[in-house]
Amino acid sequence: MGDTATQQWHAVMAADDLWEGEMEAVDVEGTSVLLVNHDGDVFAYKNRCPHQEWPLNDGDLDEKELTCANHLWVFDVTTGKGLNPANCALIGYQCRVDDDGTILVNLG
Ligand code: FES
Repeated sequence: MGDTATQQWHAVMAADDLWEGEMEAVDVEGTSVLLVNHDGDVFAYKNRCPHQEWPLNDGDLDEKELTCANHLWVFDVTTGKGLNPANCALIGYQCRVDDDGTILVNLG
């Protein structure tokens, strides 16, 4: 048994396999999701740039700044907000690390 909210969480990978300062694209129910570990906190976003849908895991991660490989838009991976330009944002998903060290993502 389990309620609907519980069933929306998907186990995607072991947190130990996503080191600090790393990002990784995973498939969740057919959706490409970008996982980012910044200072031990894990964040999940749709793996598509809001500009022209470029895969964000092709980009460059420097501290909390993610730069899209296509036209160099820059995002804050701790908030999903655009830094350059500022009037855009990544699509974020709920994300948590379970007691057994598994990263869970909720597409909502
Ligand atoms: S597609 Fe990412 S900046 Fe253009």
